[in-house]
Amino acid sequence: MPIKRSASATCTTRSLPPAQLCGRNTRTPQKSTSKSMDAMELSLVGKPSPVPWSLLLNGGVAAMLVVLGALFSWAAERCWLRPRRVAGALRAQGLRGTAYRFPAGDLKENGRRNQQARAKPMPPCHDVVPRIVPFLHDIVKEHGKVCITWFGTMPRVVIAEPELVREILSNKFGHFEKFTLKRLGKLLALGLASYDGEKWARHRRILNPAFHLEKLKRMLPAFSTCCSELIARWDSDLTGSHGPFEVDVWKEFQNLTGDVISRTAFGSSFIEGRRIFQLQGEQADRIMKAIQYLYIPGYLFFPTENNRRMKEISRETNGLIRGIVEKRIRAIENGELAGDDLLGLMLKSNMDSGEPSSSGLRMSTEDVIEECKLFYFAGMETTSVLLTWTVVVLGMHQHHDWQDRAREEVLTAFGHDKPSFDGLSRLKTVTMILYEVLRLYPPAISLNRRTFKEMQIGGVTYPAGVAIELPIVLIHHSAEVWGRDAQEFKPERFAEGISKAANGDQPAFFPFGWGPRICIGQSFAMLEAKMALCMILQNFQFRLSPSYVHAPYADVVLHPQHGAQVMLQRL
Ligand code: HEM
Repeated sequence: MPIKRSASATCTTRSLPPAQLCGRNTRTPQKSTSKSMDAMELSLVGKPSPVPWSLLLNGGVAAMLVVLGALFSWAAERCWLRPRRVAGALRAQGLRGTAYRFPAGDLKENGRRNQQARAKPMPPCHDVVPRIVPFLHDIVKEHGKVCITWFGTMPRVVIAEPELVREILSNKFGHFEKFTLKRLGKLLALGLASYDGEKWARHRRILNPAFHLEKLKRMLPAFSTCCSELIARWDSDLTGSHGPFEVDVWKEFQNLTGDVISRTAFGSSFIEGRRIFQLQGEQADRIMKAIQYLYIPGYLFFPTENNRRMKEISRETNGLIRGIVEKRIRAIENGELAGDDLLGLMLKSNMDSGEPSSSGLRMSTEDVIEECKLFYFAGMETTSVLLTWTVVVLGMHQHHDWQDRAREEVLTAFGHDKPSFDGLSRLKTVTMILYEVLRLYPPAISLNRRTFKEMQIGGVTYPAGVAIELPIVLIHHSAEVWGRDAQEFKPERFAEGISKAANGDQPAFFPFGWGPRICIGQSFAMLEAKMALCMILQNFQFRLSPSYVHAPYADVVLHPQHGAQVMLQRL
């Protein structure tokens, strides 16, 4: 049956308690009493067993049976009946997809395909989807742009149609809530990106002022100081070398964006910040390893090396951030200014948001710590890969002309002076290049949601609790959306802005998400990337090193698997 699609994503009026909405069974298995366990143990060691013991023994067995029965029906509902019910309801409306495989769903196959794809590099072109998400690429080809997959025992519908993605992301009522793995997420960072409802609204309101353009303007000196240090470092590496010099820009940009977020988030405490981003980098890798075993109940509690190390990292990161946050709170309480960095702005906005702190209008210290962790991760990893892929693409010999054009624009605008805020906002070629890199190499390759209540999307009714994957990278590479040259690097498609870039002006460019939950750090990231790119172009020419191997792969964000080696030459 063909899938009928309507223009709007609407919700039905039915409203259910949260546990049911997420498809969780509210029944809890009964526990046997310690008395009956004692009774069993006594009779098992062979003591004479008068009537009361045998009664108790019978009672213990009965209790055990009840427990086992309850566990069995809970597991059957969760792992078998509900998945089949939901999948049946979706298939009846024409959706196709993979068959449910107990208990891992598609996780194992997805992991296997990723490993296979990562085993070999690819030619230096931009047709990266089959390497980054081989499984997703194939199932969408086979089953269509709206299709069913399985995240363990949970049905997950992939929606790769730009209009539907925009509808889902535009929803202001929280009907598509965030689908986050809270226990795993907490090991890296929760914060704004993982909250829903009231809590999200409160945090977004408190954090928003810190990202206003006026505030970002004041952070510009921190951006340029970090970039100057990068240029000075490269200069000193070049001293004494004849001709071009090889640098792995991925590592360099991780340090750069880590320094930027340390300075802009924590001001003078940025040295302490370095340790935090090193730890978070390691944590992200470990989380990706753990994710493929999550279908095993309680997996995170197993005493594996990976699990133990993740907990250690989480403890150390929390301790470091708590130290910084508490120091600042004490300083403010002693009458010092909050400061112009993100932490100071966030604390000030928090204090302005309501009295007293117990009113629930403010964030707690724990909340502030989670937000700081998120700034670190979201602010550093994403922008460092944006810069990395930009330099890699401009370093490919077929795109040297774009490198020259960008340099010409930068030198015309600033000469060899430090780029100004207004000047950076006016750059056209550089902006087009960054957009095209974000299209081809989106740092966040997919967004995840879950239906909070029964919803209609594109004519299909989705029960509550269905996970939804919005594969940004597939849409960004779709020939239907961008034309037959979709796999080519053509910054000129953004010459008239984002809204005119895709075929038929489709809303199909989502590197920062869309709607109410659009990236809060978007302007911050673009400003930082422009500053860094401008200062590099003012000082160096670059091309890919012969040792560079083109191998993009998706960790939490889109990484270069073997680094990003580039030959630098002083202008
Ligand atoms: C190139 C750089 C960046 C990219 C591509 C990027 C991408 C994204 C995307 C796609 C989302 C939406 C996630 C969703 O809807 O599920 C998001 C949200 C978010 N980003 Fe960024 N981001 C970048 C830089 C930053 C920076 C620099 C910061 C902070 C310093 C930041 C902080 C956040 C936060 C806090 C959210 C959650 C917003 C909310 O849920 O209300 N991001 N980002």
